[in-house]
Amino acid sequence: MDTKVSTDLDSFEKQIEAIFGGCRPEPGQAKEFFDQFRLRMLYYRCAMKEVQTKIEVLNEEFSLRFDRNPISGVYSRLKDGKSIFEKMRRKSLEISLENMEEHIYDIAGIRVICPFLDDVYDLERALLEQDDITLVKRKDYIKKPKSNGYRSLHLVVAVPIFLSGGKRLVKVELQIRTIAMDSWASLEHQLRYKKEFCLTQNTERELKRCAELSAELDSRMEMLRQNIIGD
Ligand code: GTP
Ligand code: MG
Repeated sequence: MDTKVSTDLDSFEKQIEAIFGGCRPEPGQAKEFFDQFRLRMLYYRCAMKEVQTKIEVLNEEFSLRFDRNPISGVYSRLKDGKSIFEKMRRKSLEISLENMEEHIYDIAGIRVICPFLDDVYDLERALLEQDDITLVKRKDYIKKPKSNGYRSLHLVVAVPIFLSGGKRLVKVELQIRTIAMDSWASLEHQLRYKKEFCLTQNTERELKRCAELSAELDSRMEMLRQNIIGD
């Protein structure tokens, strides 16, 4: 995942030029905009750390209680300025920091990979039970997969970060999925990327079939786990 954030004023000016085109801010305002933007990115970075710590704490607690890790990997990334503003443009939003904070939910993103299907929902429950976490948006692509077969649980949460000037609620996107879901999504992404989104109908069908096989693998492994626990 990309963890690069533009912190260089010159390259940011170029990004602004490319993104804003004719209606870019005045040169004097660009500096102010850049400073404010950097401050917002600091908020997102802190919020991402907060959520990551919560996940690590839960993983440690679960592993002590049940003698196994319910989390096999955690990856995080911060979207860079260019991608944020391009996304705002795609959504026909006026480029402003207010619109960015209000409408772009995936600036801070964390992906959590769990071994078993139930781990995904156990982790969701344990996180959302915490009284400083607020659920903003939830999409369950496991119960209702995307038409191409993609499965994953997507949550957008708001967490407080504490600054010298007081408390601020910041949004973080979480994708929680099993190892099998993650392996399908990574391979599908690679295939799509190579072909620049022009897959044949046959390939699309085959990919979906692979997603179904991977879903079956998940439910059979979950059943095995239940049987072993019950033994
Ligand atoms: P966007 O972030 O603009 O796409 O908004 P959205 O809220 O509609 O997002 P969505 O719920 O579709 O999920 C966004 C993220 O999930 C993407 O950035 C990917 O990381 C992942 N994702 C969604 N669909 C797919 C898919 O079909 N294949 C793969 N590999 N990843 C996907
Ligand atoms: Mg996204």
